Amino acid sequence: MIDPDLLPIVDCGDPVLRQPAQPVDPADLRTPELQRLIAQMRVTMEAAPGVGLAAPQVGVALQLAVLQDGPERWGQLTDGDRAARERNALPFTVLVNPTLEPVDGDDLVSFYEGCLSVPGLTGVVARHRTVRVQALDQHGQPVDEIFSGWAARIAQHEVDHLGGCLYLDRVETRSLSTVDNYTERWAGRSPAVAAGALGFTLPPDNGTR
Ligand code: NI
Repeated sequence: MIDPDLLPIVDCGDPVLRQPAQPVDPADLRTPELQRLIAQMRVTMEAAPGVGLAAPQVGVALQLAVLQDGPERWGQLTDGDRAARERNALPFTVLVNPTLEPVDGDDLVSFYEGCLSVPGLTGVVARHRTVRVQALDQHGQPVDEIFSGWAARIAQHEVDHLGGCLYLDRVETRSLSTVDNYTERWAGRSPAVAAGALGFTLPPDNGTR
């Protein structure tokens, strides 16, 4: 049994978050070192808690990310809040050397997101509603999967990490809020309310089809 340890999470300002990560040699997925890293990333994501973690966030410049969402992460979200985010259970998923392409035309959805490497802040980011991800899993088997809603947001955020991109590069800068202000003012409300008050724009028909 692997005995994983929590890994320290790297914060923005560290160059490892700004460099394109290196592809994983699929043969390395058979090594105890890489399997241990995956296990450590899983417990680190769960403990944070977060819904995704990319290897550069633990200081490892490899194209590897873990994702997971579900009731244990939804916390205090009401059913309405969860529906507004199109947030559905996403089983634990490992993406190795992923590529991602939008498959929704240009159906963008803007919502608040945050990042474990950008503590204390949250902001509105436009993401594709539906994406196709091709990758390898933790056993080196091909993954070819369509992600939609919040899972698509998580996948885009994590694949961005592997290219040296943070959500700060895509955020509506005027939407940036401390987590305290978000909790006090904007949680449970449509991003449109914050857009009006803070002075940023949303895609037309945001959050609706
Ligand atoms: Ni992140």
